[in-house]
Amino acid sequence: MSNKQPIGFIDSGVGGLTVVKEALRQLPNENILYLGDTARCPYGPRPAEQVIEFTWQMTRFLIDQGIKLLVIACNTATAVALEEIKAQVDIPVIGVIQPGARAALKASQTGKVGVIGTLGTVKSMSYEKELKEKSPTVSVTSLACPKFVPIVESNQFLSPVAKKVVAETLVPLHNKYLDTLILGCTHYPLLRPIIQNVMGKKVTMIDSGAETVNDLSTLLDYFDLNNYDLNDNKICKFYTTGSPKMFQEIADEWLDIRDLIVEHISLDD
Ligand code: DGL
Repeated sequence: MSNKQPIGFIDSGVGGLTVVKEALRQLPNENILYLGDTARCPYGPRPAEQVIEFTWQMTRFLIDQGIKLLVIACNTATAVALEEIKAQVDIPVIGVIQPGARAALKASQTGKVGVIGTLGTVKSMSYEKELKEKSPTVSVTSLACPKFVPIVESNQFLSPVAKKVVAETLVPLHNKYLDTLILGCTHYPLLRPIIQNVMGKKVTMIDSGAETVNDLSTLLDYFDLNNYDLNDNKICKFYTTGSPKMFQEIADEWLDIRDLIVEHISLDD
């Protein structure tokens, strides 16, 4: 294992880019490979068995490319596949749920925490379990927001449609007196200004993906896997199972990097 080997990030689409953005900021020396399974996005409404199968396909693809560590930058996949994958591969693997839950407990003053995520993540109750295991008295209100991911994937996250959908979807969270809201889907930070506006300034938003980069940094130290080669030509490469054009447009805008290398690949044949 060489420290120069890239870190792998996987997601059902562009959501994991919100994790990569934070990784580029905190760990600029690391080489990065990203795979978004855009052709089969969203994962949220799919049965757990299928999400596990797709997550394995992505994992194997990036392991074959020689990654030194894997970040499952997708809550839906973390909820159902993290434990299995962690147990069966011989590189370190982290997901996004534990770091998000930990950050929420740190931020909340009142113990009233909200979680928004995909249908799969909410159904798994993974956040509730993580939160309550550490702090049994915490009150958790979860809400599935299945309309958010398609808005982000179609690059409409700044549009008036996005504002309307977010406002309508979050109505059940009104009058719950939440002081902290976990963005329990890595696509949601792209809608964060709109979500914050609807929830009000007093509610602290937790970006579970960005929090994961703190854990990633700790793991690199723990396993002595940091890339120390400062003169290395950095690799930052993106694969998608969908259209590279749409992926590139969103990635350019979100990561603010021009001329990203985006390559189309197939996973299911
Ligand atoms: N970005 C993903 C997550 O964090 C998955 C969204 C989806 O494909 O439904 O859950």
